[in-house]
Amino acid sequence: MPDSSEHVTADPDWWRQAVVYQVYPRSFADHDGDGIGDLRGVTSRVGYLTDLGVDAVWLSPFYPSALADGGYDVDDYRDVDPRLGTLEDFDAMVAALHDAGIKVMVDIVPNHTSDRHAWFTDALDMGPGSEARERYVFRDGRGPDGAEPPSDWQSKFGGPAWEQVPDGQWYLHLFAPEQPDLNWDNPQVHEEFRNILRFWGDRGVDGFRVDVAHGLAKDLSEPFAAAADLHDELALRGEHPLWDRDDVHDIYREWRRVFEEYDPPLAAVAEAWVHPTRRGRYADPEGLGQAFNFDLLQAPWSAADFREIIKRNLDDVQQTGTSSTWVLSNHDVVRHPTRYGLAGSGRAAAEAWLAAGGHPEQVDRRQGVRRARAATLLILALPGCSYLYQGEELGLHEVGDLPDEARTDPTWFRSGHTRKGRDGCRVPLPWTSQGPSYGFGTNGAHLPQPAWFGALSVEAQQGKEGSTLEMYRQALRLRRRLQGPEELTWEEQTADVVHFSRPDGWHCVTNLGATTADLPDGEVLLSSEPLDRHRLPPDTTVWLSAT
Ligand code: GLC
Repeated sequence: MPDSSEHVTADPDWWRQAVVYQVYPRSFADHDGDGIGDLRGVTSRVGYLTDLGVDAVWLSPFYPSALADGGYDVDDYRDVDPRLGTLEDFDAMVAALHDAGIKVMVDIVPNHTSDRHAWFTDALDMGPGSEARERYVFRDGRGPDGAEPPSDWQSKFGGPAWEQVPDGQWYLHLFAPEQPDLNWDNPQVHEEFRNILRFWGDRGVDGFRVDVAHGLAKDLSEPFAAAADLHDELALRGEHPLWDRDDVHDIYREWRRVFEEYDPPLAAVAEAWVHPTRRGRYADPEGLGQAFNFDLLQAPWSAADFREIIKRNLDDVQQTGTSSTWVLSNHDVVRHPTRYGLAGSGRAAAEAWLAAGGHPEQVDRRQGVRRARAATLLILALPGCSYLYQGEELGLHEVGDLPDEARTDPTWFRSGHTRKGRDGCRVPLPWTSQGPSYGFGTNGAHLPQPAWFGALSVEAQQGKEGSTLEMYRQALRLRRRLQGPEELTWEEQTADVVHFSRPDGWHCVTNLGATTADLPDGEVLLSSEPLDRHRLPPDTTVWLSAT
């Protein structure tokens, strides 16, 4: 294995104010021309990531998988899906990223394996009562012949959360049936995951994104509560049998000891959809150390909402000593230029739009991109770490109107084709304005790309003054120069304007209103829209250096 670690910072706090770029490997770049992105594709684009100026890359799962849930159904946690490459390709990718000074985070999926994982096939083969079955959550059914599931719980993707196997027992799957939940009461599961973390730590990765971090620990004592009494996961705050239980943090304290075996210690970020007041537990320095803050990703375009969310999150991170995280898009939600182009503009409005057909004509694309650019400059000016999702630097919109036959998301199948799912934000990236799959690969793309992708391609935006790609590049360059201590001062502001400054006289002003506002004095460093004299147009962010 090549040792490339000398090129990346040894600062143990590198993650605190990093810009982390999420790569969804199957849709990033396809090197071998089979229509599916691969690890060599990532390696071939290291120059692009360097020019963009990111500090780290987080890769969504690239493990062997039947793709029942886009790779979050893992067959083997210590290998690479042959369609995406080999472990040697992985090592070469890490070496190339490290040589470019870019850290690497990988996705760890500990709540469930796939149903093709050797543990699960053993569990089926060995039968009821076997040690192999104890690694998962198997129960007998209800009713005289056990033909009813053990409880009426529903899976996150729709449909029952229990699946019956040929010998009559049932297993729990909080997501798709191809994703059986692991039994974290079993010490073997703990040991296995500590060793998986070491496997990747030894291969040179710098950190982990922990999938469904608020799952894992469960109280499965019977009788099981009825689904109707459990629907409010966020309000139950530690009392829910399946989500966000206090004892999940014992697991992360164990993991922290593994992270500390490395120098610098491995970093981690929790994906935990929990009540904001409980997020800090996941970010505890004795646990995972950082947690995604999904508040802005859900919020409408409103100065009051943005201000309140920023204040609250900066206060919260003071409690644990972590840094805040800012996220506008990821592979699970409608892309933010599209959200901001919809009346309502929050996540709920976007989900409703998608459910109603995802028609592009209902999206004000210009407004959406304008607001998205303003929101991006705003989050990049905040203290803390920003997570960017591939393609947002191009101002890519959601492909809401994918043909139904192209959809692959389990939510689509398990909701009886009523919830469209997440394919529309996972369409392969356009690298060139024309040509097969817009430069994604030499052939097709595993999800169809719309004709408007060409105009948003890297080729079309590269070097073009005012393009979204060039704005991101400039912003990341400036941010590196200006990033000072993790402090923020609120400046005088009006109802629709969010204005704060950072210690070195760097001001960030965003107008979320519909009318032009005053721009404070100072030298304009960057602006999300062209300025007409020293004024702040609607839906615009300006970075200023106070004179
Ligand atoms: C996380 C992932 C999502 C996946 C789910 C189940 O929420 O981000 O894509 O479907 O976990 O693993």
